[in-house]
Amino acid sequence: MDQKLRGQRALVTGANSGIGKAVAYEMGSAGADVMINYVSGDGIAAQIASDISSRFGVRAIAHKADVSVEADVLGMFERAVSEFGGIDIMVNNAGLQKDSPFDEMTLEQWNTVISVNLTGQFLCSREAVRGFKRQGMRPGVSRALGKIICISSVHEVIPWAGHVNYAASKGGVMQLMKSIAQEVAPLRIRVNSICPGAIRTPINKGAWDTPQALDSLMRLIPDKRIGEPEDIGRVAVWLASDDADYVTGASIFVDGGMLLYPGFAAGG
Ligand code: BGC
Repeated sequence: MDQKLRGQRALVTGANSGIGKAVAYEMGSAGADVMINYVSGDGIAAQIASDISSRFGVRAIAHKADVSVEADVLGMFERAVSEFGGIDIMVNNAGLQKDSPFDEMTLEQWNTVISVNLTGQFLCSREAVRGFKRQGMRPGVSRALGKIICISSVHEVIPWAGHVNYAASKGGVMQLMKSIAQEVAPLRIRVNSICPGAIRTPINKGAWDTPQALDSLMRLIPDKRIGEPEDIGRVAVWLASDDADYVTGASIFVDGGMLLYPGFAAGG
């Protein structure tokens, strides 16, 4: 087995389901120790941690924390230091949708999405950078001082009616990621985003769980298949590895071509 991340330690937020869970498994399979962050579902998170550690022979621990709460994030990084000695890879994955027509959207729906999807990525990235600076280079482990991977979305550029809070949060993630990347590149910290299109996870179940929904989704995907969480997990491992050592500040779209304006294939 090619273990590109052997000796590294990854923290993945929202890792008890969907994309985060797949990223955690792929990181473990690549040899990294993994901290599984989650906000609800103690049993599932613990089970994922024990499965990852027994399958791949790495350390894996579950840690409950709300990424939008500063004290929770500080506590999570303290635990990472006490259990692992720190982290090398931060994967900002925790995210949610609270969909609503714009003129019916409540302030709570707006604030919840911005707090988790954008403020959560700010808090975790800030603690990650502080930790990378404190621990210093780990020669032989990675050529970078640290790596941050933000899970964004095609909606960091594609406007999305009925989801303005979500699209605004992901547009924010784009500039958060790029501005951090510019600031910390001289320290040899790499910061990038993965921008998934439609991936088969609980967040968008309504878009794929009936033949009719799947059929209408396919009109938006030139590749003519829905993405699987592992499609994102594998790109995350590559981005975290030294194979991507010259990649920073990039938004990498993993979307089966969703961003290619498929409506123009036979029009315009
Ligand atoms: C959203 C999904 C959606 C996909 C493509 C993702 O960021 O979370 O609900 O299916 O973008 O529109």
